[in-house]
Amino acid sequence: MQIHTVKTTPIEGQKPGTSGLRKKTAVFMGPHYLENFIQSVITGTGGAQGKTYVLGGDGRYFNDRAAQVILRMLAAQGAMKVIVGQNALLSTPAASHLIRKRGADGGFIMSASHNPGGPNEDFGVKFNGPNGGPAPEGMTAKMYEETTRITEYKILDAQDVDFSGVGTQKLGELEVEVVDPVADYAAMMEDLFDFDKIRALLAGGFTMRFDAMHAVTGPYAKAIFEGALGAPEGSVINAVPSPDFGGGHPDPNPIWAKPLMDEMFGPDAPDFGAASDGDGDRNMIVGRGAYVTPSDSLAVLAANATLAPAYKGGLAGVARSMPTSGATDRVAEALGIECHETPTGWKFFGNLLDAGRATLCGEESAGTGSDHVREKDGVWAVLFWLNILAETGQSVGALLEAHWRKFGRNYYSRHDYEAVDSAAANTLVEELRAKLDDLPGQSFAGLTVEGADEFAYTDPTDGSVSEGQGIRIMLEGGRRIVLRLSGTGTDGATLRVYLERLETRPDHLDHDPQEALADVIAAADAIAGITRHTGRDAPDVRT
Ligand code: G6P
Ligand code: ZN
Repeated sequence: MQIHTVKTTPIEGQKPGTSGLRKKTAVFMGPHYLENFIQSVITGTGGAQGKTYVLGGDGRYFNDRAAQVILRMLAAQGAMKVIVGQNALLSTPAASHLIRKRGADGGFIMSASHNPGGPNEDFGVKFNGPNGGPAPEGMTAKMYEETTRITEYKILDAQDVDFSGVGTQKLGELEVEVVDPVADYAAMMEDLFDFDKIRALLAGGFTMRFDAMHAVTGPYAKAIFEGALGAPEGSVINAVPSPDFGGGHPDPNPIWAKPLMDEMFGPDAPDFGAASDGDGDRNMIVGRGAYVTPSDSLAVLAANATLAPAYKGGLAGVARSMPTSGATDRVAEALGIECHETPTGWKFFGNLLDAGRATLCGEESAGTGSDHVREKDGVWAVLFWLNILAETGQSVGALLEAHWRKFGRNYYSRHDYEAVDSAAANTLVEELRAKLDDLPGQSFAGLTVEGADEFAYTDPTDGSVSEGQGIRIMLEGGRRIVLRLSGTGTDGATLRVYLERLETRPDHLDHDPQEALADVIAAADAIAGITRHTGRDAPDVRT
């Protein structure tokens, strides 16, 4: 088979964001676009010669064709072996697990996570390193540099590989092993959690609904919840991955998983509801009439971790992204363990997990995970909750209330302003940055600012510094506002405003979060001039 060396020129804008490179599908399908990026990843990580990779994706439109291109490029550059999920499917956490289990040199995950898919929607590729985690900033910087100076790429002239059945085949010199995407992952879950206990819970009439949102977790959830754990058929819904996620937006939050929310707050609600996103790393947990914010979920899991076999020896530490609420911090304090605050992006947890400084990690953006892989993990989070519910015999709502009574409640909400004009969004941030030092002592919407800064992170394991990671404004009474621009959007800028207030009075724990945060919301607009800059008088999304 012939190897082609194709002349190309740099394409602008191939800088990996919060989680890999994400663009409109049509952009990715444009001439040389995918090839330039893949070549830059390969070159930026020291070449593919003799290496072993994992390859899979969330099944979105272009997933299968992109996989063929990546394989042909790896074959052309002397890679030894690629382990591919059947039908080119692999959830992000399952890919992370496979990289670790097989000792691979890295993996390519084709996904734009929770963004919609289809010819007019989004596509993405991210590269994970040998620890199974997203490439750290130093590595993505090298890839980006390559994209700016690329002159050619190498690709093998070959027919498509058949991904439809498991087994090993050859593509030129490259060994291609197609594997069942679920089996290894499911086996790991069985090691981590008490499946007998969960099985007994479900056999005893406890009902659950898992919404796979037409995305990659469908086959995983079917095999684990309905197969191994015996939940009745139909407990998992929207379980067949579809290239456009059934026309939906595969993001597990109260807005995009509204049918599930309606069911959970309706008259015939099951005991437990959950959903996961496009590539299976996000999760939403909801009890009968009780929604659990991602920040609270991390705190509850940390507080009850020893109830699950994998964590019965206790936690080494916990980590949360900076915009995530402080609920977990107080659990860590009570447990006497380390608590780390990192920038947004799972990649920042990798070093802490590798160094054994954190066992559980979580983000307000519906991500929770542990040291079992180096990605956040949706199905894992659901199993963790089920294991805790099975051990305590409590409902989600009761567990949550008990948690708040013990630790206080961090009322929390994120307001997103989407597809904002990029220049306007940047001006907002620049103006705010310029006045940060003057804010302390001033009052806005009746609240006095106690502190304000722009978050910078020094990784305690390697000393690397990440600056400009979001603006924090601390207000009286345990209130906090965080503003930052999303690093995952593909359309203009997305302004995220994170709002939080700690409440410890036992008779004030059951308010509506938007009402409980009304003064913080007003202060955010007064300080940052959100309406003035964006022309919007309300956010597009409130989580
Ligand atoms: C992805 C990343 C997360 C991140 C989230 C939001 O899911 O894996 O780590 O929290 O995107 O990022 P953004 O930059 O859009 O706020
Ligand atoms: Zn995702």
